[in-house]
Amino acid sequence: MKRYVIFMMLGGASLLFVNGCSSMGGRPAMGAEGKHAQMKMDSGSSYLMPPGKVKMMMQMMMTMKPDTLEAGHKRGEKLFYSETLGDNKSRKSCGTCHEDGGTVGGAAEMKWKGMAMKVNIPTLKGAAAHFPKPMGPMKALVDLASMNNMCIMTFLKGSPINKNSQESIDLVAYVTSFSRGKRLEPGKEKIVPRPVPGAM
Ligand code: HEC
Repeated sequence: MKRYVIFMMLGGASLLFVNGCSSMGGRPAMGAEGKHAQMKMDSGSSYLMPPGKVKMMMQMMMTMKPDTLEAGHKRGEKLFYSETLGDNKSRKSCGTCHEDGGTVGGAAEMKWKGMAMKVNIPTLKGAAAHFPKPMGPMKALVDLASMNNMCIMTFLKGSPINKNSQESIDLVAYVTSFSRGKRLEPGKEKIVPRPVPGAM
């Protein structure tokens, strides 16, 4: 009998456990922060929640405002023009090279294994439709979020952002907005309107 009571209490406690989804570190990727909390249910213990509480939870869920793609674009746009993204010290943003989602032209310098090289700056119009594809000096197969991180590390001299974070998803949403209506062509090469001679 005593055992049964303890079991019920444990069941109730785990039912109220709000899953933070933070095993990957960083902020959980759940729409407008925190509002979309997930409940972790123990199988068979859901009946332990008192009916009053169930009603309260249902009402809370019904009044929650859903996140929207447009809101994600707005947050992503802010990150795109942020000079502190990935704690970068270069005082540059994505917009420094990919202004308005296009290209400012020219080539960017990067170092690899001590060698300096010039890399043509592509336009981002249509770019999202070409991932995943092999990128970087090592030609690693990457998705768009990893590509964004490559630019954060190489050109902003910052730290990569957690791919599972809301920030990463919002930045992907914004970069993807430049490819609306474009044909999905994974693996296609970057688009450089005016290549610089001698640059990659
Ligand atoms: C200093 C200039 C510079 C900055 C700043 C910069 N990039 Fe880039 N970006 C490049 C260059 C150069 C490439 C091409 C890399 C290559 O060919 O390996 C590129 C490639 C890309 C691509 C892939 C395009 C394609 O079609 O393959 C994406 C997406 C991208 N950048 C997004 C971003 C985002 C998001 C940011 C900000 C976090 C950013 N870039 C900041 C220069 C820059």
